[in-house]
Amino acid sequence: MKRLQDKKILLGVSGGIAVYKAVELLRLLVKEGADVSVVMTKNAERFVTPLTFETLSLNPVRTDMFSMSERGKISHIEDPGLADLIIVAPATGNIIGKFASGIADDLLSTIFMALASPILIAPAMNNRMWRSPAVVRNVSRLKEWGANFVGPATGDLACGTAGEGRLETPENILATAIALLKKGEDMAGINLLVTAGGTHEYIDPVRFIGNRSSGKMGYAIASAAKRRGANVTLVTGPTDIPPPEGINIVQVTSANEMCEAVLAIAGGVDATIMAAAVADFSPVSQAGSKIKKEEGGISLQLSKNRDILKEMSKAGIGGVMVGFAAETENLIANARKKLKEKGLQLVVANDVSEPDKVFGADTNKVVLVEAEGEKEFPTMSKREAASVILDRLVQRYLKVSND
Ligand code: CTP
Repeated sequence: MKRLQDKKILLGVSGGIAVYKAVELLRLLVKEGADVSVVMTKNAERFVTPLTFETLSLNPVRTDMFSMSERGKISHIEDPGLADLIIVAPATGNIIGKFASGIADDLLSTIFMALASPILIAPAMNNRMWRSPAVVRNVSRLKEWGANFVGPATGDLACGTAGEGRLETPENILATAIALLKKGEDMAGINLLVTAGGTHEYIDPVRFIGNRSSGKMGYAIASAAKRRGANVTLVTGPTDIPPPEGINIVQVTSANEMCEAVLAIAGGVDATIMAAAVADFSPVSQAGSKIKKEEGGISLQLSKNRDILKEMSKAGIGGVMVGFAAETENLIANARKKLKEKGLQLVVANDVSEPDKVFGADTNKVVLVEAEGEKEFPTMSKREAASVILDRLVQRYLKVSND
């Protein structure tokens, strides 16, 4: 069985001595059944002619940003969304720099800017270039934006030295591409409920009590699950994040509203990820008009809110249940307590002893806690953290077959 049957792949080739290996990569992709279109930069053309790629792909090779496709549309706008995957091999330090800096002065970098497909970048360059501050920053920025990297490998380099910088082998690039495409569909048919953001418990029409939460983690999970094919419903407290496309959004304000919304949806889902920072207390009564300043201040009487996860567990709804535990001390012990008391399969534990590093930040450091043990991850972007949480959910709890 061909592993890339019916897959449309756009292969971007930038200029370096490793271009000849991209020819072999193209041959392997075609052999696996992929329909491959090649885009070359001007410098790539100096190493291998477009004719070689054209002959192997059986598709015209494009090099010019201003050429019109047969249907009369501008080619760089058409392609990025049509491809199941874009592979850039070899990716020079220069093209990586353009991608990371928003420069679009040739067809390949323009395609990247208009990108709507997953991308796999296989860098190839001199080892000192690979380690240079600019390239290190550019690669980390692209990873944060969701780009996937394979290699570079270590070995002899074209410039006569040895080190890290060789283009990864065509076989390894192919294997990574296949794994990525598979992951792109590994949540197809899954109904997932995600909560995000903090809730607001109003004291009067202008003041509320709430938990610190930007909503970024929950939104990153919802978007990542959507990209992996899940049918996602996001119940969200107030946030500044624009609603992601293709996700059912339910906007709520208070913990009670979130509880009602979640309980109404949870009966029909395969898994729930509660990333929301639900306020634990709300004012017993809410003033109808703005409370005016009083000498000596005011006292608020607060009552405990319903625990949404506990209610779901009790009702036996929500499917596989994933909770979060934001803790300032005894991270693992507290997370484990929540795992047990709330009837969860997995707790994503967050150390918030340095709150500014988590709340509102684009990075997170998580430990995945389960009954049998825990796994700690290094600081990563919230997008990458979303990916490791979903990987675990899919591999351990939702996987239907082992193929
Ligand atoms: N949670 C919930 N309902 C609540 C409060 C929290 O479902 N009323 C969920 C959160 O969305 C999170 C998990 O429970 O997934 C843990 O939330 P956290 O605020 O860390 O814990 P609490 O249960 O509120 O306990 P404490 O504040 O005492 O640490």
